[in-house]
Amino acid sequence: MGEQDVSEAVRSLPKAELHVHIEGTLEPGLALDLAKRNGVSLPWATIDELRRQYEFGDLQSFLDLYYQLMGTLASADDFHDLMLAYLAHAAADGVRHAEIFFDPQVHIRNGLDIDAVMDGLLSGLAEGRKRFGITGGLILSIVRDLPIESADSVLDAVQNRAGDLLGIGLDSAEVGYPPSLFVHVYDRAREMGLHCVAHAGEEGSSDYVAQALDLLHAERIDHGVHAIDDPALVARIARSGIALTACPLSNRRLQVVKDLHDLPLQEFLRAGVPVTVNSDDPAYFGGYIADNYAALEKIGFSLEQLGAIALNSIHASFISPDEMRDLEAQYASWKARYLN
Ligand code: ADE
Ligand code: ZN
Repeated sequence: MGEQDVSEAVRSLPKAELHVHIEGTLEPGLALDLAKRNGVSLPWATIDELRRQYEFGDLQSFLDLYYQLMGTLASADDFHDLMLAYLAHAAADGVRHAEIFFDPQVHIRNGLDIDAVMDGLLSGLAEGRKRFGITGGLILSIVRDLPIESADSVLDAVQNRAGDLLGIGLDSAEVGYPPSLFVHVYDRAREMGLHCVAHAGEEGSSDYVAQALDLLHAERIDHGVHAIDDPALVARIARSGIALTACPLSNRRLQVVKDLHDLPLQEFLRAGVPVTVNSDDPAYFGGYIADNYAALEKIGFSLEQLGAIALNSIHASFISPDEMRDLEAQYASWKARYLN
């Protein structure tokens, strides 16, 4: 198959995106426009100047810029527009379903009303469903390095609209903020009927992954790279069918690995772990989801393997059995066209 055909096959592969932060889809041009529109002053006047800030040495250096640019988002309309812009990219990349993180504690700290944030995101999702046929939902992500009381109060704030959420997640600076700190938050979220996922093993050790499983009862692990250091843990993840939401371009840009070849994804797959591929913060890391799939193809993943990864993403999503059957059928058509 020629390069063009592979790229077409990867883009048309029906997939679910399970690890994307809506704030991480804020492209530099939109951030500058919003800053102007909302009277927020930023130290960079042009896209080129801003883009020069996108050299990251680690997770924290990225988070500093990510939180600063988040300050340009001010209204429900801003969140609506941000969601639609992401869904347009996702649709072009073959995404049929997206489970999308947002960081309400940060928006509340910035003086926004959580209902306005959620209303904007949900109306964007509804419009995206009409325009692109993508289904989706929101995962409220707890920012682990903010005071724990703000995690409790954000759950208070959404107590009466849990039906508008798919799940709870845990993100931001990992080392020093282990899952054990968030047990009561996850217990409460589970009582509210939310699915539980957590970032673990991105910069943190395999022990953070084990804690996310044992203490938070995470149904998926976001990243999970360092689980590879504990073979018994890898075997346990495989046995339980817990999916990892890998983000290759993110891991390379944040120096989790020096090179994509150093990511242990083939090892995880060989061990039977359901690996999925996702974009994390595509506006910051040089690619949306299809670029992440294509990057793996470039380092030797076969189209069969990429197909299996996309099928994993469908199975690891929180969609209804009817929707799952529909996506499985779409996957079967893709397979008949490209693999048989
Ligand atoms: N928030 C947005 N992107 C993140 C990442 N890669 N890790 C932790 N928190 C994040
Ligand atoms: Zn993430």
